[in-house]
Amino acid sequence: MAPDLSPAALRAALEWQLESGVDTAVEAHPVNRYALPERMPAPARPEAPTAEPAAPAVQERRDPVTEAERMAAAADSLPALRDAMAAYPWCDLRLGARNLVFSDGNPEARVMIVGEAPGREEDRQGKPFVGQAGQLLDRMLAAIDMARGAEDPARAVYITNVLPWRPPSNRDPEPGEVAMMLPFLRRHVALAAPEIVVCMGNHACGAMLGRKGITRLRGQWTEGFGLPVLPMLHPAYLLRQPLAKRDAWADLLALRARLGG
Ligand code: URA
Repeated sequence: MAPDLSPAALRAALEWQLESGVDTAVEAHPVNRYALPERMPAPARPEAPTAEPAAPAVQERRDPVTEAERMAAAADSLPALRDAMAAYPWCDLRLGARNLVFSDGNPEARVMIVGEAPGREEDRQGKPFVGQAGQLLDRMLAAIDMARGAEDPARAVYITNVLPWRPPSNRDPEPGEVAMMLPFLRRHVALAAPEIVVCMGNHACGAMLGRKGITRLRGQWTEGFGLPVLPMLHPAYLLRQPLAKRDAWADLLALRARLGG
């Protein structure tokens, strides 16, 4: 039998679980949160004009990537794209996330940064790169006189992620998740129309460039979604490997030089 706990003790126990990374309540019956819906409801059909027996409703199987492409293409502004992503039902990461993390910074910025996926703090605040790695990113940007909050598009950055929802326990994004969210990322970049994209880390490079191997790719200008792309080491990696900050500094200077000055 459960011990008789005071509300304060229950609250402390819950907080302890949250601190330990628990983010999903276990229910009495198992729920497969990764099962994709097999079928969508059939659209309403007009009455058949003849007396023939009505054909059974056609229930087509919808492809999540095609649906994402359709919904992304229909979005004609950043707020509309955000709404479309919030309404997209196929990615089950949404079920375990507190918030959809769409973007931060100045959408007019010349530079757009693409990261991997929200972590715990990003999920909590609904903004990308606000945890420890995000704080390091802000310091890195400040070192080349840039800031996500800057009003001047020449000094500003605009930030998003490949995935808008936090993967459970910060696991790596799965290929199926990346594939279904990629049309939204492509549209996001098209609508923001930056001059340069910085791909932060391996997963962003995998999604945007179709290539991984960030330690080889970093610092090499390339092209993605029709724009110049600079792959860089992810700030979370730099927190674990401080010696790699030398390489990150070289890449920041390359970005600064490309922007002029
Ligand atoms: N890492 C990312 O790639 N994105 C975030 O928003 C936070 C951490």
